[in-house]
Amino acid sequence: MYVCLCKAVTDRTVRSLIRGGAETRAEIGERCGAGTDCGGCRGQIDDLIEEELEARGCASCPSGPLRPAASPAAAASASAGSSVFAPA
Ligand code: FES
Repeated sequence: MYVCLCKAVTDRTVRSLIRGGAETRAEIGERCGAGTDCGGCRGQIDDLIEEELEARGCASCPSGPLRPAASPAAAASASAGSSVFAPA
């Protein structure tokens, strides 16, 4: 089934990219273009990411990509590429 009509990307392609390591909508867009035009498919892409991450147990992780940051400092830390977890 087509998820992104603008870029002719199917759910199968999106799932494959997620299984290959893409964990955000931006990463999906970089790899296949889905979600980078009109944006009408972004909700579906988010749903597929959540489904796939849930299937592998990552969606429940507090540092998962779809989880809101606990604080602005944590968000800054996460966007800088470091862990949101500090040593005790
Ligand atoms: S339907 Fe995906 S960007 Fe337009």
